[in-house]
Amino acid sequence: GAIGKDGYRHYMEKELHEHPSVIGQTLRRMLDPATRQVVLPELPFDLATIPRITMTACGSAYYAGLVGRHWLESIARLPTDADVASELRYREPPLPEGGLGLLISQSGETADTLAALRGLHGAGQHVLSVLNVPESTMARESDAVLETVAGPEICVASTKAFTAQLCVLACLAIATGTARGTLGEERAGALTAALTDLPGRASELLTLREDIQAMAQVVAEARDVLYLGRGAAFPIALEGALKLKEISYIHAEAYAAGEMKHGPIALIDRTVPVVAIAPGGRLFEKTASNLQEAKARGARILAFTDADGAPKLLNIAEQIVVVPTVDPFVAPILHAIAVQMLAYEVALLKGTDVDQPRNLAKSVTVE
Ligand code: G6P
Repeated sequence: GAIGKDGYRHYMEKELHEHPSVIGQTLRRMLDPATRQVVLPELPFDLATIPRITMTACGSAYYAGLVGRHWLESIARLPTDADVASELRYREPPLPEGGLGLLISQSGETADTLAALRGLHGAGQHVLSVLNVPESTMARESDAVLETVAGPEICVASTKAFTAQLCVLACLAIATGTARGTLGEERAGALTAALTDLPGRASELLTLREDIQAMAQVVAEARDVLYLGRGAAFPIALEGALKLKEISYIHAEAYAAGEMKHGPIALIDRTVPVVAIAPGGRLFEKTASNLQEAKARGARILAFTDADGAPKLLNIAEQIVVVPTVDPFVAPILHAIAVQMLAYEVALLKGTDVDQPRNLAKSVTVE
């Protein structure tokens, strides 16, 4: 039957509010709360010995993949390549025998991703897909599937499916790190505990709507917006900029914060707000100094950070949203929800057709 909006104004708002339950459901498929261990479905290849991962997807799913690459490289020390599917198909990368193709797709029907899947199979790679629709074409053609349990996503712009993809990729990184012996038991326990804690932290984040609305007032008046982040927060900046473009029609660009000085800093003035994705952790100080550089050129800084970062940004940022503090490992997941909320509030101010943006389709089945 038809899926209603349950009293929400848009499917996007409803789907944003489903985050705590979707994260919980998705993790329960892979995380044993008693042993605090990740238990993946049986795979027809060995995570301990695969030489390389070639990851591909389109749109938001690709940005989830970029975060996943950070995790797989740092936690599992596994060489991981990521590219958008429409490029991977024609790039002819040399692929090692027994390598793993990792596909990410909400629908499981995106033409470019499906073609890339077939190409990877043809090149002798194992194929593992992270999918939200278990009866999709990609599911049928994959060697194994890891499911995001996001339920139907109606809004064209992805929200809960994106965060569910991140949860699956985080579990895959933990399982791979454990299999390869690069992740100790104690640290693995800490990472799974951080994941288990996420639904509660996501609920807290959803209560920060008024702070995000205040930020949205500034963004809604801009013609161009710059999103900055470093490390695993950079793909979240990309996701934030994409979401803003898609549903508010404001031009936004995401840059790795340290790369700003090599170009986009020329654009900065009071009319180009800078949205910073700056969770606490190893890269916080570097990001803060990049923001200081932008502020010195007149930029209005709007920062997403946590309780550790907030006091250090008081003199830099005009507005701060204090995202609940979590292990830096899972911070990208919460910050993803925060930038989605911001895009939604801006779209409301702009009065756009939030759930059905012009020129976009939920699933693109043509090349
Ligand atoms: C379309 C949608 C995007 C989505 C992309 C990939 O472009 O508008 O929101 O991220 O397809 O879709 P998939 O179903 O493969 O995740």
